[in-house]
Amino acid sequence: MELEPVVEKNLNRHLTVAKEWFPHEYVPWGEGRTFDGPLGGDAWSEADAKLPEIARTALVVNLLTEDNLPSYHHQIATLFGPDGAWGTWVGRWTAEEGRHGIAIRDYLTVTRAVDPVALERARMTHMTEGYSNAHDHEVLHTLAYVSFQELATRISHRNTGRVTGDPTCEALLAKVAADENLHMVFYRNLLAAAFELAPGQAMRAVADVLADFQMPGAGIDGFARKSVAIALAGIYDLRQHRDDVVVPVLRQWDVFNVPGLDADGEVARDQIAAQLDTLERQASRFEERRAARAARLAAAS
Ligand SMILES: [Fe+2]
Ligand SMILES: [Fe+2]
Repeated sequence: MELEPVVEKNLNRHLTVAKEWFPHEYVPWGEGRTFDGPLGGDAWSEADAKLPEIARTALVVNLLTEDNLPSYHHQIATLFGPDGAWGTWVGRWTAEEGRHGIAIRDYLTVTRAVDPVALERARMTHMTEGYSNAHDHEVLHTLAYVSFQELATRISHRNTGRVTGDPTCEALLAKVAADENLHMVFYRNLLAAAFELAPGQAMRAVADVLADFQMPGAGIDGFARKSVAIALAGIYDLRQHRDDVVVPVLRQWDVFNVPGLDADGEVARDQIAAQLDTLERQASRFEERRAARAARLAAAS
């Protein structure tokens, strides 16, 4: 309730800067062909898929992640409640996220980029599993999580667009990424206000969330293997996670200069610093391994 005026201000800001866009304008409908089944069209075959394999992997991971929107909606609707600016934001955010899955699925189906039967089965499995984040009953933890996660998703969509080599898909994913960026700004601004209202609690939330951060699609079948491929392709890796997601958001909150911390807030800040060091070591090790692998592949060919 203390954050409600901040929610209202940032909701109004969001509505001013968000530009209306239409998913159907980014789908090349003229390329579409009827599939097999009741309508007697052509079954999908591997030869239909024109996009590079890694682009298809990333698109499917991103789409399945977007598909789990009912779970995300349930979480924030339960936590933020239906009233006032909080409730309006929940509805607006859900409507914007809804078009991401619509847009990407329409594109993939019309262009026959992936097997539609495998995609539908993966969606059924993933949505049946549902999603909950590790701190889904705590408002500040959830605000911290989504601040990082929306930015991570933005980068993942953007870089996926690049590896498709298809200007239409890249334009579509750039629109999706622009939405994710505004979501990040909204949540980041709320947590910035929380840092003023209750600095110790906000710091604790950030430290806890960074300690066990996982992408929302972590429950997707084969996620470990797919996320390695995505990291090797430079679509989303530990270096980007640390340098392009975690560090810029922490800098916006100016976490290392926040005044008025209680004892636990100080502990939390030290944990954040240690986490940044750990991420640095992990990112460097990953980059070394990736470079060595690239050298091996180059030597082998
Ligand atoms: Fe999204
Ligand atoms: Fe988003």
